[in-house]
Amino acid sequence: MRTVLVGNIKGGCGKTTLATHIAAAFAGQGLVTAIGDCDRQRSSLNWLRRRPAALPPITGLDWAKDVGSPPKGLDRLVIDAPAAMHHKDVEDLIAISDVVVVPVLPGAFDEDATAHFLERLAKVKAVRKNKRVVAVVGNRLRPGTKASEHLDGFFGGLGFPVVARLRDSQIYTAAAAAGSSVLEAGDRRARAYAAEWVPLLALIDSP
Ligand SMILES: Nc1ncnc2c1ncn2[C@@H]1O[C@H](COP(=O)(O)OP(=O)(O)OP(=O)(O)O)[C@@H](O)[C@H]1O
Ligand SMILES: [Mg+2]
Repeated sequence: MRTVLVGNIKGGCGKTTLATHIAAAFAGQGLVTAIGDCDRQRSSLNWLRRRPAALPPITGLDWAKDVGSPPKGLDRLVIDAPAAMHHKDVEDLIAISDVVVVPVLPGAFDEDATAHFLERLAKVKAVRKNKRVVAVVGNRLRPGTKASEHLDGFFGGLGFPVVARLRDSQIYTAAAAAGSSVLEAGDRRARAYAAEWVPLLALIDSP
């Protein structure tokens, strides 16, 4: 089983959006997939409740109170972490993960908070020893803006280059409401958005 942790201490940066999309990508490949929702808001579990039966199934694990043990036979586990996470909890979740995905919005406040989170991550032994892949993902970007460019320079300078850039679009709000993802909508516009996920999904899938 491969486990992907999506986390950042910054609220509203896209953790649930990324967790649900990554899970949908796995499920779409025919992999037996679950989301472990560690957030008391239960956003991922609510998204799953809205998920149409015709789409590839994803199992929801309610881990808001305690991180449980994943069911047997899973190929992929995606963990949706809450914004307010103690250092110990971060360490525990990293211990069971192969990849840590860190979404970040453009802007100084978001960059600062995320840099702080990355500093904490870098101190975790498994990360320090290069035993975990850490992927920073720029979210809600408006391509060609100064804020977008700044994000690249800022995280590149910290040694965590931005591996994927996702545009700001209502298509994500619609997917959240529909229990789906832009990866699963077949129209041309959605395919253009889906292309932005390719570098992240490739990194997650790489051995
Ligand atoms: N690329 C995007 N374009 C437009 N809207 C987006 C995008 N990514 C996320 N959103 C919207 O931004 C809001 C916050 O996203 P999301 O819930 O994924 O963040 P979060 O980090 O999980 O938040 P929390 O810290 O509350 O758990 C949601 O309404 C979501 O639909
Ligand atoms: Mg969330």
